[in-house]
Amino acid sequence: MEINELKEELKRYLKEDRYKHSICVMEMSGRLAEHYRVNKQRVMKAALMHDMAKELPLDELKKYVINNEIYVSKMEMFVGVTLHGKVAADMCRKKYKFDKEMCRAISNHTTGKVRMSMLEKIVFIADKIDETRKYEGVENLRKLAFENINKAILQNIDNTILNNMKRGRPILEESIKTRNYILINEKK
Ligand SMILES: [Fe+2]
Ligand SMILES: [Fe+2]
Repeated sequence: MEINELKEELKRYLKEDRYKHSICVMEMSGRLAEHYRVNKQRVMKAALMHDMAKELPLDELKKYVINNEIYVSKMEMFVGVTLHGKVAADMCRKKYKFDKEMCRAISNHTTGKVRMSMLEKIVFIADKIDETRKYEGVENLRKLAFENINKAILQNIDNTILNNMKRGRPILEESIKTRNYILINEKK
């Protein structure tokens, strides 16, 4: 399916703000794909659809995960924040025939994952630095994403972990695993 058709599909799932975020993540992914010489179409499609399940109620996401036998850890099921990515990936594979790498990028966009490909890394970081994001330090992170994508991902995960700690929230194992993997194997 072409990007324009996917956009029309996405509109049925998302309210205006999140639709706009999705478009901006897609555009940022396109820029990063050019910079890092990755197939632009596939990155942009995955980026566009990454949050397609985000507005489904949590109990529906849980039901979808169970009924479609998607693997998620007990902690992820309990915390809930990553489920929309898992569900979106499954929907995109079945409805739009997205390939494995595109689906992995969607599935893991919240926490990252060990051994991410460049396509997956681009979708992950584009989601955190798109033009709709307004938090402190976002401009620096945007710059860093083009200079060293691994460092940018590390910085984002560190911030997420610290924020969760400050707020007394659980920290997902996947965030820690991703951080350690990049820190030890890929940070240059
Ligand atoms: Fe998301
Ligand atoms: Fe997002």
